[in-house]
Amino acid sequence: MEALRELFVSNARERYVNRRKFLGTSAALATTMMLPFKLGASARPKIIKAGFAEAVLMGMDKPKTAVMAYNAQIPGPTIRIPQGKRVNFLVKNGLDQPTSVHWHGIRLENGMDGVPGLTQDPIAPGEDFEYNFIAPDAGTYWYHSHVRSWEQVGRGLYGPLIVEETAPIEVDSDHLFVADDWRLDDAGQIAGNFGHMRDASHGGRLGNWLTINGATKPTFVARPGERIRLRCISVANARIMEFAFPGLIAQMVAIDGQPLSAARSLDSALTLAPAQRADLVIDVPVNGDKEYVINEVSTGEPLVAALVVVSGEPIRAHVKEPGSLILPANPLPSSIPLENALVVDLHMEGGAMGQLREAMYQGQMFDLRSLVMEKGKAWTFNGEAGTTVSPLFKTPFGQTVTVNMINDTRWPHAMHIHGHHFRVIEKNGNPVSNSPWRDTELMEPGDKTSISFIADNPGKWLFHCHMLEHHMAGMGTWFDVGLPS
Ligand code: C2O
Ligand code: CU
Repeated sequence: MEALRELFVSNARERYVNRRKFLGTSAALATTMMLPFKLGASARPKIIKAGFAEAVLMGMDKPKTAVMAYNAQIPGPTIRIPQGKRVNFLVKNGLDQPTSVHWHGIRLENGMDGVPGLTQDPIAPGEDFEYNFIAPDAGTYWYHSHVRSWEQVGRGLYGPLIVEETAPIEVDSDHLFVADDWRLDDAGQIAGNFGHMRDASHGGRLGNWLTINGATKPTFVARPGERIRLRCISVANARIMEFAFPGLIAQMVAIDGQPLSAARSLDSALTLAPAQRADLVIDVPVNGDKEYVINEVSTGEPLVAALVVVSGEPIRAHVKEPGSLILPANPLPSSIPLENALVVDLHMEGGAMGQLREAMYQGQMFDLRSLVMEKGKAWTFNGEAGTTVSPLFKTPFGQTVTVNMINDTRWPHAMHIHGHHFRVIEKNGNPVSNSPWRDTELMEPGDKTSISFIADNPGKWLFHCHMLEHHMAGMGTWFDVGLPS
């Protein structure tokens, strides 16, 4: 097999170059079969077992890759659950290390959020944990490990989580598009250098091999005129991906699981930072090509991510009228009362080439060098590295919270809040109105982004960068929401 180029570059200056060099993959085609779980209201817990497995990531003619996986599948089984109904999952740990499952983007009860140290104890090897929760919002979410996530997610412990709408948009087919970049060695195995401080202090662990739904360049088969719902999920550790759909008519209808108030036509590429999702409605032209490509274009050199092969009789005479592309609203407030907001500043510093010279870690000051070399931390929020004993803020139930985030680093960050969705209210000094609800927001270097949300989910919630090596190296904090009175 062809050698994989080592894409990771040592010079921070080359972050952009790094993104530009995202490697081309082999011509192998693969399709994936995903076996969905379908849960009724009162189902017995479905079993999700984290364990070691082998996966065909690179193509049938290539070596299998040793991975960590849920139920031995990459991605893990597609979980489809009803909105607003209690569901339960029995997570079994078949690994040789502790684990947990976080249901990313679900506004669930705190004890089920899957964050060891904050909401539960880690699940020891050989042990089980039953997750039991209600998903209030329909949409496209995902689940993943929240223990040593930079390694466990990087090795494959993730899967799609779909909360079904009561009245979905009418489409002919509904597909997942789970994007991951793996760092593979020449033998097609996952490079073992997880948690490396060079990655952690730069752009995170960037991979050199792209998979969609766990396969290299999978094929989606469609008929002319078909309307496809494509649920895009980035499960990458750190890479910001951009997907283009040349020749296809693509519109975005939801972001991070939450419906948009109006569909947005996708004129430029779809940017997906780690953990972000976007639901697209794609119309295949009636008298168009026999084959379309979906390209990953963040590097400037299009890399084929997947193919759409068109065959059979047209499904209709003309592409479907746009119709209503508005998904039913989720139970989120129609506006956020900003007047009496609790205002919190979050000053993000550190990383390679930053201004940070010293920082607090576990109550002690360290110069940057010892912080990195001895403590494995490279980033700070408000001058402190790592999850602190006391929360970033504590708030009564129902309080509006505005967080003014300043990315005072030379790197982008994908900021994620657990248990809540938020809205951007101001970006770089400009007020933003009616921005979509999100759970993960991409901040470019230098960005000043203010977000607001209503703290209406009691408990202790994590707030961190979803570039998993950045989280590992200090970009994490938490907040505490009180009980309703
Ligand atoms: Cu998707 Cu704290 O995680
Ligand atoms: Cu980050």
